[in-house]
Amino acid sequence: MRVCVIGTGYVGLVTGVCLANVGHDVVCIDVNEEKVKLMQAGQSPIFEPGLAEIMQSSMAAGHLQFSTDLKGGVEHGDILFIAVGTPALPTGESDTRYVEAVARGIGTHLNGGYKVIVNKSTVPIGSGDWVRMIVLDGVAERQLVPVPAGGIPETTHPEVAADFDVVSNPEFLREGSAVYDTFNPDRIVLGSNSPRAIAMMKELYTPIIERRFAEDPSAEPVPVLVTDISSAEMVKYASNAFLATKISFINEVANICDRVGADVTQVAQGIGLDSRIGKKFLQAGIGWGGSCFPKDVSALIHTADDYGYEAQLLKAAVEVNDRQRQITLEKLQQVLKILKGKTVGLLGLTFKPDTDDMRDAPALILIEQLNRLGAKVKAYDPIVSQSGLRHGLTGVIVETDATLLADHCDALVLVTDWQQFKELDYAAMGQRMNSPIIIDGRNFLDREALVRAGFQYLGIGR
Ligand code: NAI
Repeated sequence: MRVCVIGTGYVGLVTGVCLANVGHDVVCIDVNEEKVKLMQAGQSPIFEPGLAEIMQSSMAAGHLQFSTDLKGGVEHGDILFIAVGTPALPTGESDTRYVEAVARGIGTHLNGGYKVIVNKSTVPIGSGDWVRMIVLDGVAERQLVPVPAGGIPETTHPEVAADFDVVSNPEFLREGSAVYDTFNPDRIVLGSNSPRAIAMMKELYTPIIERRFAEDPSAEPVPVLVTDISSAEMVKYASNAFLATKISFINEVANICDRVGADVTQVAQGIGLDSRIGKKFLQAGIGWGGSCFPKDVSALIHTADDYGYEAQLLKAAVEVNDRQRQITLEKLQQVLKILKGKTVGLLGLTFKPDTDDMRDAPALILIEQLNRLGAKVKAYDPIVSQSGLRHGLTGVIVETDATLLADHCDALVLVTDWQQFKELDYAAMGQRMNSPIIIDGRNFLDREALVRAGFQYLGIGR
């Protein structure tokens, strides 16, 4: 099928590349010329395991192109994905201006044939109808008849001129395993009241669903859930809000564990063995961050507010999460007392391992707070330390390896659970530190091994 993906970030690029990889004819559009040039040269602007390889093979097979030309993209695609960012506004609401610009642009370039316009971006509930309206505005703008002197501009009837449906198709991929998740989704959610659009979306995803069977004939079929648009939009928000709340829940339990002398890692194991609860998202630590949970939870709280409902549970989940950063600082204060003039080394900067994404990363908040308390902050991150991303950071010295990070540190804080951090030579690092202290902000490291290596170890809730 002929597909156009507009916005080539973590979601758009991975979606476009994976759809091309299963044989669709995909054009990816972005406004960022530098990024487009890089992708045209076969390079991925983001770090995602396996992405660059299938991107290059799909390009070589002639299934994947990159461009800044929205008009060309709209003309090319029978299915048009909107996959631009929807960051949080300072108020916590979702900033939909990029979606609006794309929807208007699509309207301006619609070329007659039937199109399915897919909201892949996470957009506030009700955006399906809103996108439809903006697309029609775009169609109307294109069809503006030249204004007669002193007259009012007229439009032809957009409803007649534009033949399209809007589908909400929320994305559930996890950064760090985005390609795997796209090929192995837990479910595909399609929200639309148009049987024609749903049929095209099912056809689009068939090769991805079949690919899983080809690799593993005993695999469970991928459930495809068809809903109305608002419910599909809500599925996305509710999923992220649930996961964020689950983490805040275990963090709350961890804080109680700290007081009563229980070990949250053992408690989580005990809870997680209950199949009704499940063991995932029960790792206590420094709290959730990243480009999705914080903004999606606050957007849902705002939506509820707009409709006169106070989402108390979600607000509590956010409060517990904010407090987790503070708890990490308090642990540092507990062992170092005065932080002014001390040097703290952060292991990890990205919001989770296997990604280069630092949006709303807990490390950024820690850096800010440690700076405020007069501490010197150093950091090492397997990806950020090696990339240009380090230049955008302030208030932190980014070291190129973990040994240099340890030099003259008064304490280390493990912020991101990169697998590599399990294998560091902590005994050697401890020797280079002013005092071998480590706060394991993810309960990720081997406590006994660290104690044997001479460290004072503090976890979260253990
Ligand atoms: P991103 O910020 O990585 O990428 C957005 C891209 O859109 C950028 O390359 C930007 O240059 C481009 N763009 C902006 N305006 C444009 C325009 N008018 N025309 C063409 N391109 C334009 O965003 P990301 O992380 O991929 O997120 C996209 C959406 O997917 C968001 O709504 C997000 O909430 C949602 N989402 C993100 C997930 C993630 O793990 N990052 C997971 C699931 C959903």
